[in-house]
Amino acid sequence: MKKRLLTIIGARPQIIKAAALSRSLRNDSYSEGVRFSDLLEECIVHTGQHYDDNMSADFIRELGVPDPDANLHVGSATHGEQTAKMTQRIEEVLLSAHYDGVVLYGDTNSTVAGALAAGKLHIPVFHVEAGLRSFNMSMPEELNRIVCDHLSSILFAPTQTAVDNLRHEGLCDSPAKFADGKQRQVVLSGDVMYDNSMYFSQISAQHSTMMHDLQLMPKQFVLATIHRDNNTDDPERLNAIFSALLNIAQQEKVVLPLHPRTRKMLPVNLKPELLNEMNNCKQLMIVPPCGFFDIIELERHSSLVMTDSGGVQKEAFFFETPTVILRPETEWVEIVQAGAGIIADADEERILNAYRQLRGKEIHFPPLFGNGHAAQHILKCIIDYLNK
Ligand code: UD1
Ligand code: UDP
Repeated sequence: MKKRLLTIIGARPQIIKAAALSRSLRNDSYSEGVRFSDLLEECIVHTGQHYDDNMSADFIRELGVPDPDANLHVGSATHGEQTAKMTQRIEEVLLSAHYDGVVLYGDTNSTVAGALAAGKLHIPVFHVEAGLRSFNMSMPEELNRIVCDHLSSILFAPTQTAVDNLRHEGLCDSPAKFADGKQRQVVLSGDVMYDNSMYFSQISAQHSTMMHDLQLMPKQFVLATIHRDNNTDDPERLNAIFSALLNIAQQEKVVLPLHPRTRKMLPVNLKPELLNEMNNCKQLMIVPPCGFFDIIELERHSSLVMTDSGGVQKEAFFFETPTVILRPETEWVEIVQAGAGIIADADEERILNAYRQLRGKEIHFPPLFGNGHAAQHILKCIIDYLNK
C-alpha cells in the first residue's frame, strides 16, 4: 500500500523548497524498477500565509508544483492568531483522511503550525531544513525552528553545522519515543534549495527577460532583498539600510525586488527625505517580487548580493556571488566562514565597508550544500522510516 504524505506550504520559500521533493517524487526511483511514486502519494495543503500571486501562485506554476489539494486561506495576522488559525485548519485536514506523515519546510508560522497539529495527532513529522539556528531568540523563525525540530520524527539537516546544532540540543541521541514507538532520526541530507538552483538554472536564462528588461550588464549591478521584520519594522535599521543602498546606487545599479512587508513599511518608517531620494534615484531600481527564474538570473549575474533573506544568501553562494548579510547573525555560517559573505547587520558604515571588501574579490566557493540530489535522499529515508 502506498504511504500518504501531507506536505504543508504557505510562504514563498516553502513553495520553492517543496518543488524539489515533489519533482523527485514524480520522476525518480527508490530502487531499480521501483519508482517513488509507486510507494508514496503526496497531498499538498497551502495555508494561505502568502497569497499575492507574485508570492505564491506564480511559483506553483513556474516551478511545476502540483496544485495544492486545499488552500486554508489563513492570510496575514499577528503571530498568535495566524499560527492558531493554521493549526486548527491543518488539524481539520489531518482528521479528514488518513496520512502516514507530514512534510514541513523551513521555519515559518506555517511550519510550526503543521508540527503542532501533526504532532498532537501522533502523525510523524518530517522536517526539511532542520537544525538551523541563529541563536537569536527574538527572531520568530528561531522559535518556529526549535519547536518544529523537537516535534519531528526525522530531522533533515542540510549541513554539518545543522547536525551539530541538533546534537547540542540532545536531538541526535535522545531517548524520546514517538507514538509509533520509533525514535527520532537526524539525517544529513544536503539542501533541497541547492537541488532546485542546479535544476532550474539550466533553463532560467531561456525563461527570464529580466536582465534585458532592466538593461543590466552582468557583474555591474547589485541585487538587494529586504524583508525581515526587525529591519522593516525598525525605523533606525530601515533608514540605515536604505541610506547605504542609495550610496551604492551612486556607483552601480541596485535592483531591489520589494517584498510586500517592506513595500508596506517604507512609507511608514523611512525618513521623508530618504523616501524622496529613493523615489528619484534611477539607479535604485525597485521592482515587484520576482519569479524564480528572474531571481536566479539576477543572483548569478549580479556583482554582489545584499540581503536579509536566508534563501537568497544561499543561492548567491550557489551562483558564486558574494553576499553582504543585512542581519546581526546568520544561520548559514559556512558562507561567512568561506569568506563569501560578511555580516554587516543594519549599520550603514559596516554595509559600505563590506561592499568595498567583497566587490570584485576572488573568492573560493566550496561545495557545502550537498550534491544536488537531497530530495531523493530525503524520500528514501521517509519510505524506509514508514516501512520499518
Ligand atoms: C514570512 C516568514 C519568514 C520568511 C518570509 C518569506 C514567519 C514568521 N515569517 O515572513 O520567515 O522569511 O515569510 O518571504 O512565518 N503580505 C502581503 N501579501 C502576501 C503575503 C504577505 O501583502 O502575499 C504582507 C502583509 O502585509 C503581511 C506581511 O506581508 O502582514 C508579512 O507577511 P507574513 O507572512 O506574516 O510574514 P513575512 O514577512 O512574509
Ligand atoms: N525569491 C524570489 N523572488 C524574489 C525574492 C526571493 O523568487 O523577489 C526567492 C529566492 O530565490 C529564494 C526564496 O525566495 O529561493 C527566499 O525566500 P525569502 O527571501 O522570501 O525568505 P527566506 O529564505 O528568508 O525565508
